[in-house]
Amino acid sequence: MSISYNAAERVFRLDTPNSTYLIGIVDAEGFLGHIYYGHRIPDDNMGYLLRLEESRAPSVNNRERLSFYDAFPMEYPGHGVGDQRQACLSVETPKGYRACGLTYRSHTIYGGKPKLEGLPATYGGAGDCTTLELTAEDRTLGLTVRLFYTAFEKIDAICRSVRVENTTGKPIRLTTVLSACLDMDNQNFDLLTLHGSWGTERMISRKKLGWGKQGVSSLRGISSHQEQPFLALVEGSATQTQGQVYAMNFVYSGNFLGQVEMHQQGQLRMVLGIHPTDFCWNLAPGETFQAPEAVMVYSCTGLDGMTHAFHDLYRGHLVRGPYKNQPRPSLVNNWEATYFDFDTERILKIGREAAAAGIEMLVLDDGWFGKRNDDHSSLGDWFVNENKLPGGLRYLSEELGKMGLRFGLWVEPEMVSPDSRLYREHPDYALQIPGREPTLSREQLVLDISRKEVRDYVYRSIHAVLSEANVAYVKWDMNRALSDVYSAALAPEAQGELYHRYMLGVYEMQERLLTDFPDLLLENCSSGGGRFDPGMLYYSPQIWTSDNTDAIDRLKIQEGTALVYPLSTMGAHVAACPSHTNSRSTPFQTRGHVSLPGCFGYELDLTKLTPEEKAMIPGQLADYRKYGPIFHNGDYYRLASFSENHVYDAIMAVSKDQRTAVIDFVQVMSCRHLRSVRIPLPGLAENRLYRSSETGEVHSGAAWRYGGMPLPKLRGDFLSRLIVLEAVEDLPAEA
Ligand code: DGJ
Repeated sequence: MSISYNAAERVFRLDTPNSTYLIGIVDAEGFLGHIYYGHRIPDDNMGYLLRLEESRAPSVNNRERLSFYDAFPMEYPGHGVGDQRQACLSVETPKGYRACGLTYRSHTIYGGKPKLEGLPATYGGAGDCTTLELTAEDRTLGLTVRLFYTAFEKIDAICRSVRVENTTGKPIRLTTVLSACLDMDNQNFDLLTLHGSWGTERMISRKKLGWGKQGVSSLRGISSHQEQPFLALVEGSATQTQGQVYAMNFVYSGNFLGQVEMHQQGQLRMVLGIHPTDFCWNLAPGETFQAPEAVMVYSCTGLDGMTHAFHDLYRGHLVRGPYKNQPRPSLVNNWEATYFDFDTERILKIGREAAAAGIEMLVLDDGWFGKRNDDHSSLGDWFVNENKLPGGLRYLSEELGKMGLRFGLWVEPEMVSPDSRLYREHPDYALQIPGREPTLSREQLVLDISRKEVRDYVYRSIHAVLSEANVAYVKWDMNRALSDVYSAALAPEAQGELYHRYMLGVYEMQERLLTDFPDLLLENCSSGGGRFDPGMLYYSPQIWTSDNTDAIDRLKIQEGTALVYPLSTMGAHVAACPSHTNSRSTPFQTRGHVSLPGCFGYELDLTKLTPEEKAMIPGQLADYRKYGPIFHNGDYYRLASFSENHVYDAIMAVSKDQRTAVIDFVQVMSCRHLRSVRIPLPGLAENRLYRSSETGEVHSGAAWRYGGMPLPKLRGDFLSRLIVLEAVEDLPAEA
């Protein structure tokens, strides 16, 4: 068991392979204090670290109780009685009382991990993880709060969630319920976060932590292109391979707040959860509210260690379904090939080229339904446009099937066009505020997915389409942020529940889809990478990374994405040149190498390729079949970052058995002194010999690791190489 309770010290201990997390029960009153999180410590008498004296615990000085509340490291802080830092829980009673503070009531420790009803969450059996369920209470209100902590046996991750139970006997209103809090000392930390916009998702930001509150958030109703529900405290001296990192990531796809607050004597409070702005939840007596899950990762081996923990956790304990352990099919998507301008024959032509080259699936993107020939109409009218596609999707999918291609389909279930039959019949199905003109984005409005009848209507129409054709893959798109967030079906006092109810509705629909079509490969997408988060990964093992398909911009986008998310979750396609996003032209080979580590495909008109480009496709597909599994299932290392050095980029994946390593190198700018650069290759077995596919040279893992690998000598810009190191033999252990 990786969790235990020391009754003499009243200390809970959670261990993962390299980390220890300690919680203490303080005083007769039973405050839950945070003691320690960090490098694994074997000692069983760690209660001495509790801040009893300096934060004046009531047993030490009850005269100065306010100072205690305002400085003591709390495990899950309430508000209104003296803690001026960010609250995790805020409650209002019918009389307007706004205060709560939690103390210990009881606990249980058990193997495995409970499900979070209606929400995405990591999972694991008794052999994988242990859970501490700490029951706390506000004694004045009679409120019950359960704090869940799951420690994984083989991964340095602790997953947390919170359930509030209204045992007060009266209705209450929750106005803040965050999912995790970490009160800790500052260790000269930098704050690491991911930012961006459409086409520049997940750019890495690392800066010195300052006083006050700083962090990331979204109030867009989606996790967003702009900020990721991820933040990490990184020791100022930490590098890719060394130093301590404390990271949090939110298993949720809607509004969030991730924040670090440096307060008073320089101590820190790090929190993550649903953003309290525009949030409330009304609880009748006996009702419960389940907050989403927050993942905490600790690494004492720098950023690579953090990344490995997230990748292993998400691949092994978040992604589900038949594709969890299966290679993802290569595909061609017609979006950048045709946009809305297609018919059956044009798609079949692309299909013929795809089949001849060995591509496995064709995905029909936006424009197959209603009268949608541009983005001005028809969202919500999920019936096939037989003018464009005579014989419908069944005929198309059967014809593709005869060529040996599987069929995938794009849908955007959460949206409605004002110019649609659905909107004309049910204008109240859209989010909008009576008397105010709703804000359009891409000519569309957001459906009120919080309403069951709306979900049922949309789901049934999409279900009918999928049942009609032989659909192996669905790309679930979502192309705008929420605005005018008002539901015709909710009482005025419940409107603050709408953002979260919307997310619960989306999750319910995706779960239903997976239940009805258990073999389906689902890919989430949101205007590119606007909803690339662990919540979505619970339903779809892969997500479209960005609408920016330029190979060079993608280096940065994929670097930020892979910092947290496994390569097996990143949709990555070879697109046409000049790039539709930035007009840059790059060699076909480089586009292939940049896409190879992700879920590989083509996003261009295969009928318009040059003979030389066409001839390269079978080789790219062979590389994907051979090395895709190493990128997808192995350990990922960032060797060099183009966003940092502005010249070249290199990543490496090492198979778990350390017998094969694949290096993806891109020389973005030609530069004389690259000739003398050697990059160290971590992750190899030091006493094993490996042969390089680039030079044929054989060296030990130690030589590649400490001596490094000279960069390939390439002449020109935007050039790339895939270098494979294969194990040749094991050296005898040194005497
Ligand atoms: C946004 C997606 O990111 C694109 O790949 C494409 O599917 C379009 N939507 C279609 O409208």
